[in-house]
Formats: sequence, C-alpha cells, structure tokens
Amino acid sequence: MKEALLITGCKQLVTLAGPAPRRGRHLGEPGVIADGAVLVRDGRIVAAGPRARVEKVAEARRARKLDLGGRVVTPGLVDAHTHLVFAASRAPEYEQRIAGASYEEIASDGGGILSSVRALRAATDEQLLASARARLGRMAAHGTTTVEAKTGYGLDFDNELRTLRLLKTLSAEQPVEIVRTLLAAHVVPPEFRGRREGADEYVDRIVRLFLPAVALEKLAEFCDVFVERGAFTVPQARRIFAAARALGIVPRLHAEQLRRTGGARLAVEVEAASVDHLDFVNAADIRALAHSDVVCILLPGCSFHLGLKHYAPARQLIDSGAIIALATDFNPGTSPTLSLPMAMSIACTQMRLTPAEALAASTINAAYSLRRHQRIGSIEPGKDADLAVFDVEDYREIPYYFGGNHCAMTFKHGRTIPR
Ligand code: NIG
Ligand code: FE
Repeated sequence: MKEALLITGCKQLVTLAGPAPRRGRHLGEPGVIADGAVLVRDGRIVAAGPRARVEKVAEARRARKLDLGGRVVTPGLVDAHTHLVFAASRAPEYEQRIAGASYEEIASDGGGILSSVRALRAATDEQLLASARARLGRMAAHGTTTVEAKTGYGLDFDNELRTLRLLKTLSAEQPVEIVRTLLAAHVVPPEFRGRREGADEYVDRIVRLFLPAVALEKLAEFCDVFVERGAFTVPQARRIFAAARALGIVPRLHAEQLRRTGGARLAVEVEAASVDHLDFVNAADIRALAHSDVVCILLPGCSFHLGLKHYAPARQLIDSGAIIALATDFNPGTSPTLSLPMAMSIACTQMRLTPAEALAASTINAAYSLRRHQRIGSIEPGKDADLAVFDVEDYREIPYYFGGNHCAMTFKHGRTIPR
C-alpha cells in the first residue's frame, strides 16, 4: 500500500502511547484522544493524534480518506496465550463438569488434555489448518491482530513439529501474526506413562531431540512448560528451560493454576518472558514478580469456564508493581473463547481491573510479553498500523457490553481484515 490512508471519525482514539511495559498506576493511563485521527502509509502509522493536527500533515491531504463516523479506536489486540491448533471441542467434558466432575478428575480418567492429544494425532493437516484458519478469522473479528499459539496436543516429535509447521503456514497465508511457542511439556504423553521415570525420560527427549530440531528449523521463539501436579515439576521445567535458553528459545510458563507449586519463582529465576495463570501465588511470589520483568499473564476465562470462584490476585499484582497482561488462553479444555474483549469483561468484573487497565493489559503489555512492544501494542508513529475499531461511544464500553461482539473493523498493517 503506497497510497496513504487518513482515518478520521475516531470519537476516542485510545493510543496506549508511552513507555512500555506499564506497571502500577501507569497501567490505568490509556491516553485517550477525543476526535482523533490516524495517518497510515506502507502498513505503518505516520501520525496519530487530534484530527485537526493530523490533517495538517502534508501527506494527509493527498491520502485516501476513511471516516469511521464516531467510533472508538484502539491498538490491535494482542492475545499472548492461546492453544490455537486442536482438532475437536471437549463439550462432553463441559457437561461432566457441570454435573460435578472436576477438571483434574476428568484428566486422570484419560480425558482432558490427553483426549485432545488423541484427536490431534488422528487429524489431517488439512483438518487442522481449516479449523485454525476459521478461529483466526473470528479472533480478528473481535479485534485481535497478533496471536501467540502453543503446541501441546501432539506430545511426540512428529506431531509437535507438525503443529509448529502448520502455525508457520497459517501465519504466512492470512493477516493475523502468529507467534509460535513449543509446549511439548504440556503433560506426560501416554507412551511415557505408567512407569516412575517416564516423565524424566520424556523431558530428556524434549531436551535432546525436540528443542534442537525446533531451533534448527527456527520453528518457535518460545518454550512453555505446564508446571503442575500431574504435569511437570519445577526441576523438570528448569532443565527444559536451560536447554531452550542455550538455543536462544525464551521461556514462558503455565504456573500456579490449580495450586501453588513454585512455578512463579522459577519464572523469575529463569527470566521468563511470561508466567501465566497465577491463580495461587502467595505474597512472597507477588513481591518477587513485582521486582522482575516477567509478565504475569492473567487468564480469567479459565476460572469463568471451569466455574471456579477463585481468580488470580490481579489487584495485588498490579498494585505491587508487577507487569500484567490479559489473554484468552483459547483452548478446548479450560477457556474456549476467542474473544479478548470477553476476557477483558471477566477481568474487570471478577478481578477488579479497570477498563483502562484491561485494555493496556491486552495491548501494550501483551506485546511486551511477546518481545514486540517496539512494533505493536500502541498507536504511535513508526509502529505497525494494527487497529481495532469498536462500535461504542466510550472505551469503557468495550468490556462493559459483554457477550456480544462490538468490534466493527480490524486493521492489520493498515489493511482491513475481511470478515
Ligand atoms: O492453559 N493448563 C494447561 N493447559 C491449558 C488447558 C489445556 C487443556 O485442557 O486442553 C490451560 O488451561
Ligand atoms: Fe494455556
């Protein structure tokens, strides 16, 4: 796109401009410009600010014009934790949980993550591509322009690498940017169960086989481990992260989701990009996280969907100065929502984030957790022209009107994403 585009009619332009990441009270300062405009060229933002000022930029006069007619414009949303590629829903488990079974009971009966592993292994590339493609389209329709996506339903060499290659294909063929994470250490695969050393043997394979192959083909930027009883221990995760780091692959963690196991401290120790869930952190963990650069990614869709009363202590994390972000955790087991605005609604109502905090957590801080805050996550000159347009009067209405989609348009690199 060589021709410039001048976007006007932004009743509120919510820029999130300024230093990143945002901690403490800065999380709640979104930078709202009334009657804003954005000038875009070659997929980048040339100018953003009050309409009268942007219109004075020489290029604005020659630019193609788009009047949004008084809508709210935010940075494109950044979903920094998803399990995008899976073969089938787990709706029957949803019904089992409603009837009283717990997530862990279902998992220990061979359901849960293992049922998604069986389904993914049996699915063809075409089936997995088609479903993931449709999900990406729906995510974009809810305002998301960048998505982190994990493996973790393959759990063997071929299927973990296959998932990463499918993600690479998807990233190249449609507008939403996909950031790839290897989550081979999601749970111990069936082939390694039933003997005491099985988990360690599998960790060994990840270290000696999976990670070097992933690094060689540049298939993942990040490496995640589910640190939990029934999944992996802190020492096992430490081994995986040491091997990943040596290959230039950056750690992320699922930790303290169902109980406290020490994963948050490990995240600080290994300088992980993020530690996600954090429902059961204690006061000392919160202090350690607040003094670190690890992003605490909160996933309120999980507690909501699992029907749990307990949510991560978001207020304490924010007020003590930790970097927080919000994500959908889109996956078939604990959080089957594609909508970041829905995650924002739950975060505001159940975790007491303000709408401004929820927006910063879903844009600039999420971008920081993906090491992309210099390119995406805010509306500033030089950044990618990734924008979400909402059919509301005020940005606070984005989480307020929950359960319906109010995103009217999504721009990636200055182009609208077709619906
Ligand atoms: O983020 N907790 C581990 N992983 C996912 C759930 C995966 C699944 O149940 O399929 C999560 O909640
Ligand atoms: Fe997850």
